[in-house]
Amino acid sequence: MTAAFPDAGGMLDALRDAPVVAVVVIDDAGDAVPLANALAAGGLRAIEVTLRTPAAWDAIERIVGSVEGMTVAAGTVTRPEDVARVSKLGVDFAVSPGCTPKLVTAAAQAELPLLPGVATPSETMLGREHGARTFKFFPAAQMGGVKMLGALGELFPDARFCPSGGIDADNAAGYLELRNVSAVGGSWLAPRELIENKAWREIERRAAAAVHLTEA
Ligand code: 3PG
Repeated sequence: MTAAFPDAGGMLDALRDAPVVAVVVIDDAGDAVPLANALAAGGLRAIEVTLRTPAAWDAIERIVGSVEGMTVAAGTVTRPEDVARVSKLGVDFAVSPGCTPKLVTAAAQAELPLLPGVATPSETMLGREHGARTFKFFPAAQMGGVKMLGALGELFPDARFCPSGGIDADNAAGYLELRNVSAVGGSWLAPRELIENKAWREIERRAAAAVHLTEA
């Protein structure tokens, strides 16, 4: 029997008061916990550590369970064979820029909530055929931004999205106002250079500003 698809929607819904996911690239695993602590100090409750550097695996392992109240996701999960390994790290969910039958099947088998990435109606339909209802809309700005999410909303009224890609402090609120947006993600909170420079105060400031943005 095929396992039910583990939708990541519940993870995003739990961020209700601060529906912003910090998408990060970590080069030195030693920066992982101070970074997550800085985001938490600013009031953010979700971090997506992308598997774009060799240090990402160690970084995720260090953050999981060490920062109270922080939801930890592994991002840029593109290979079905990485799903089981990611699941063993104890992450809350996985995020992918894309949506393939093999990837969603691997997530179902590992019982790991997955936020599959889509940018078009066909990709959204593929995810829905596998039981997904919550998607990363990526890359959001490049693929039509708020207007495209409106169009997807007309086609798939029960689908929810977490847009990322080109989102920043200036345009995030416009996305969060949409009925079908559960949360937004982006690297503007903790860009790679700020992490490299251990600019924890600035990262905390950006996190706090992002929380403020959703309080209006
Ligand atoms: C992601 O994986 O969500 C993106 O790399 C974030 O995009 P951004 O750097 O444009 O915020």
